[in-house]
Amino acid sequence: MSVAAYDLSVDGQREPQGIVTSPTFSWRLRSADRGSRQLAYRIRVDALLPGGRVRVWESGRVETIETTAARYRGYPLSSSAAYEWTLDIEDATGETSTTTSRFATGIVHPDEWSAAWIGKNPVFRKTAVPPQDTDISFTVNKLQQVRRFVRHFQLDAVPESARVHASARGIYRLYVNGTRVGTDELAPGWTEYRDRITYQSWDVSGLLRVGQNSIAALLGDGWYVGFIGTDRRHQAQHYGKEPALLVQLMLDAEDGGRSVIATDDSWREAPSEIIYADQLMGQYEDSRHEEPDWHLPGSDLEGWSNAVVVDHDHSKLTPEVDPGVRRTLTLPAVSVTEREPRRHIVDFGQNLVGRVSLTVRGQAAGTRIQLNHAEVLDAGELYTANLRTAEPVDVFWTNGAAEQTFEPRFTLHGFRFAEVQGLDGDLDPADISAVVLHNGFDIIGEFASSSPALDRLFRNIEWGLRGNFVSIPTDCPQRDERLGWLADAQVFAPTALAIADVAPLLRRWMRDVRSAQSDDGAFPDIAPHLIHLREGAPAWGDGGVTIPWNIYRATGDDVILRESAESMIAWVRHIERHNTDLIWRNQVGNNYGDWLQVGAETRKDLLATAYFAYSTDLTARSLRVLGRTEEADELESLHARIVEAYRNEFVEADGTVAGDTQGAYLLTLAFDLHADEAERARIANRLVEAVVRAGTTLTAGFVTVGLLCPILAEIGREDLAFQLLHNEQYPSWLYSVKNGATTIWERWDGWSSEGGFQSARMNSFNHYSLGSVGEWFLSGILGIRQSETSAGFRQLALAPRFDPHLDHATGALETPRGRVESSWKRDSNGITWQVTVPPGPAATAQLPCTSDSTITEGGIEISRSTGITVTELGSACTTLQLEPGTYSLQFPVD
Ligand code: BGC
Repeated sequence: MSVAAYDLSVDGQREPQGIVTSPTFSWRLRSADRGSRQLAYRIRVDALLPGGRVRVWESGRVETIETTAARYRGYPLSSSAAYEWTLDIEDATGETSTTTSRFATGIVHPDEWSAAWIGKNPVFRKTAVPPQDTDISFTVNKLQQVRRFVRHFQLDAVPESARVHASARGIYRLYVNGTRVGTDELAPGWTEYRDRITYQSWDVSGLLRVGQNSIAALLGDGWYVGFIGTDRRHQAQHYGKEPALLVQLMLDAEDGGRSVIATDDSWREAPSEIIYADQLMGQYEDSRHEEPDWHLPGSDLEGWSNAVVVDHDHSKLTPEVDPGVRRTLTLPAVSVTEREPRRHIVDFGQNLVGRVSLTVRGQAAGTRIQLNHAEVLDAGELYTANLRTAEPVDVFWTNGAAEQTFEPRFTLHGFRFAEVQGLDGDLDPADISAVVLHNGFDIIGEFASSSPALDRLFRNIEWGLRGNFVSIPTDCPQRDERLGWLADAQVFAPTALAIADVAPLLRRWMRDVRSAQSDDGAFPDIAPHLIHLREGAPAWGDGGVTIPWNIYRATGDDVILRESAESMIAWVRHIERHNTDLIWRNQVGNNYGDWLQVGAETRKDLLATAYFAYSTDLTARSLRVLGRTEEADELESLHARIVEAYRNEFVEADGTVAGDTQGAYLLTLAFDLHADEAERARIANRLVEAVVRAGTTLTAGFVTVGLLCPILAEIGREDLAFQLLHNEQYPSWLYSVKNGATTIWERWDGWSSEGGFQSARMNSFNHYSLGSVGEWFLSGILGIRQSETSAGFRQLALAPRFDPHLDHATGALETPRGRVESSWKRDSNGITWQVTVPPGPAATAQLPCTSDSTITEGGIEISRSTGITVTELGSACTTLQLEPGTYSLQFPVD
């Protein structure tokens, strides 16, 4: 078999469960053969109905090399049903391979919702668990006890299929006959609840039985009621004072009959053993009040109350469109230190986001165990000052069982170290582990090299992504903030999209960004939009334009541009309207500038105007992709006028850009704000001078620092880029690595041997923004790139850069068309570069050698290899065309 499809996805998700509109189908391809490509595909979709399968769509043979976004055009989809799709790929030799996958639907028509939102009964019949002691902070007053909800029901026959659709204003865990349903944690996740709220859909067919059954849920405060953002005095109950639950179980009998069990006031409810649980304030749980059988059929509901119907508002319900938060990894303890009797400090070796799982043995009933969390230690003790008002504290009281495992269910923390207080006896390292939580994306970008420090930096960037993609992309995951800051997200988006399959998550979050756009067209600083309600600052609000563009480039699917186009136009027109001379000085919001720059001050009006030009350019390009030519022309002319205004205001004849900072040059070069190549060359020279003048260290802030290596390499100074990358002196990427970092720090000097900790007011040890260099590991060092005009890696333009500090580098990227691999190693004869181009169009590859005759494959000149054509011999490089396949090329380098 020549070409085979893998990673079949529907609307960008693997086997999604809540499709409600005509989905799109995508797949990746692989082949062991050279020159292979998909000639045509054929898709068949069957509904898996109780009575049997029914064909609902047949695409017919579609001749194309495209592998993304094939739109379903079959019969309307029914609610709460399973579908199977079969993909035939025909390759150029006429061979066909077949792959199948599944998806399922949510509630297709809003009027099919019958579930009510239900909440606790204000008249308690069963007494709530009393707060245990005075050490519970005052925050508890604003938080609710986690509630249990149960509905028992009878079935005369086991349904052929059963699917459940559920959500919460708060967070929930669902059980059918005592078995936990689904894999999501912290469901339904955070969205701009005032506009829409996600529901999850799961197949529960195997869980039901004849006779008594039960469906049950735990309901906590979550983002809806709990604490969000800074300053705990004000930051709870943003969306409502009480959590509420919504569940609709749909049962399909063999004869096609459908019955529904949905939340209403017949559900019973009672407080649980969780006294309170909050994302910022931790979880308090008294396991003496646990009732292990509460969620089982026929459980004793004596003393429980009937739930209260809150309302029947289904207008904001929206299906889950990307994998929710999951438990993804479990890390063992690296060390356990007894600081004093009943007080241990545990090191998990990695700053992470999640929670501790602790097994205790032989503890007397009512033993109070407290877990404190911190990212770093200070003189051997937890350092928590940088968490500000967040309380990273979980407490539980044991119930006297011989063995108990405690893992908080409704909170999460950012930590590497945990302190266990109150445990009677020794703490066996095997009894404690750290559970990592983040959205269920796949890791798609890999990098490893001969430099352990560089590898650690790449892993730190990946960990920053894991820790900060928890429901929404956040600035930091530990202190009282954890907000969807647009600038952090937009500078990191290219890296995030190169490391993980986060396009569906970002696309979903962009809806929050758009819904926060003001009537005047201003994007916000943060989304969901709870605080910082002014218009977004330059480079912050611009995330509303740059992130959709990055998603489009990474995926090749223009759906994100269709969704975003109007808001992008409104944003640039908003800036234009308030700045008629086209220098962006008005409506600049909190105007943060090139945040966290070191020893330099890039002018804020310059940064703003550069971004104005860039956003206008990307909006014009987006409109051109969408075929909206006239509007694209108009914005292109606006763009030309902004560039003109920028040059007049900031660029001098000798190439000096106002302020003479690295940031200023980087913005000018990266956003093409020059008149011609000669001017560009002059500006490039000034950038080099600015870097060298600073002792070849970086001074750029977090908005511009990600441009440093790519731009230096592009202007022919990759030597400087590599020098900066390998620099271990402050300020540099490797400075934190040298100081033991396992994530990217918010500040270059979060901790230093001379100064100790930076100001606790702003010192996160897990901020992805300064990790924006990560994309260049793949596109620069490994050379896995696409051409300027390509999207979805259709047109690969490979160009590895052979870092003189490295002996080898290796890695891969799962692009939408398939896996691109690139590994190079250096020996006395030069470089051996092994590269794989997946099925599809030929790739171009640029190598830094001036004669094609010196390039060999397995000792043979490439002119005699199949699949390779030399297309260009430049003065400094050779350009090849590589047909799909794997190649091992040898060539000398200077
Ligand atoms: C966040 C940043 C954010 C900034 C705005 C901080 O508190 O953590 O990363 O972009 O505020 O300047």
